[in-house]
Amino acid sequence: MGYTDHKILPSDITPQAIFESRRQLIKLAAAGSFGLALAPWFSRNALAASQKLSVLPNPAFMAKDEPTSYKYVTSYNNFYEFGTDKGDPIANANSLQTRPWTVTIEGLVKKPLTLDIDALLKLAPIEERVYRMRCVEGWSMVIPWDGYSLSKLLNKVEPLGSAKYVEFISLADRKQMPGTKSNIIDWPYREGLRLDEAMNPLTLLTFGLYGEVLPKQNGAPVRLVVPWKYGFKSAKSIVKIRLTEEMPKTSWSQIDPREYGFYSNVNPLVDHPRWSQASERRIGDPKGMFAPKIKTEMFNGYSEQVAGMYTGMDLKKFY
Ligand code: MTE
Repeated sequence: MGYTDHKILPSDITPQAIFESRRQLIKLAAAGSFGLALAPWFSRNALAASQKLSVLPNPAFMAKDEPTSYKYVTSYNNFYEFGTDKGDPIANANSLQTRPWTVTIEGLVKKPLTLDIDALLKLAPIEERVYRMRCVEGWSMVIPWDGYSLSKLLNKVEPLGSAKYVEFISLADRKQMPGTKSNIIDWPYREGLRLDEAMNPLTLLTFGLYGEVLPKQNGAPVRLVVPWKYGFKSAKSIVKIRLTEEMPKTSWSQIDPREYGFYSNVNPLVDHPRWSQASERRIGDPKGMFAPKIKTEMFNGYSEQVAGMYTGMDLKKFY
């Protein structure tokens, strides 16, 4: 500040700065200020760094909320394989080997498949979507994720008529993941969705955030993001996806079924036994602990896209 020279230093070009300039362009595009001719520009790498992903912003999935800064998204995490404190994942996840990495899709499918991470990345164009994320502990973030709808992968393996659920299994390797030496969770971390939830276009198979490959603490090299459910449904560092007829057992509901249900849809009307779900604190708000709380919305604000899947269900019973 106070300098007359406005040179931009390479260190000033953060993933967030690049993201902000893309966001401005999307706003212009949405306002009709320029035509589709710009689309190839969007997908071109702005920086020639090896960690960059080629992404195509998808205006249909852009939350209007201000995105949480890259710094908070990547340093305030839950990833119990690396410890239980929010600062443990960034401190400990460096030991995670994200290559080679394969993901197996098996179970009730016509064409089971094991794909190397690079083949998985190429299966469909990588879109950038800004999603609101709500943690059951009462905080939230707004994150630009990069990936494609999980349905693109599921359609490839052709689910059988008997498949009703999809189970997601994370890596559990004691050599790479110091947290797995504790028995707080019956490793590996497992999550699950009903097949229609997994096929919903919002459900994102995610490879990056802010236009860069996922930092290890955020679940590299591939994770799930399910924005209308509490954060723990979005399993990180996935190695197996299994289609089943029975509802799969999930890590958190195994720990305490009274506190964590299978559905875990964001629902301000159904409180967690220990935490109210009526409002939330946005991480990174400059007012810190004094920031006014935000009202939590039903299905985290995604009712239009997902409410139809739960018609007729008692959401107090199926929490
Ligand atoms: N996946 C695995 N494998 N292990 C975990 O401990 N934590 C979950 C979810 N996925 C977790 C996980 C929880 S509680 C949350 S809130 C989100 O990841 C946090 O994702 P983020 O750190 O990228 O914000």
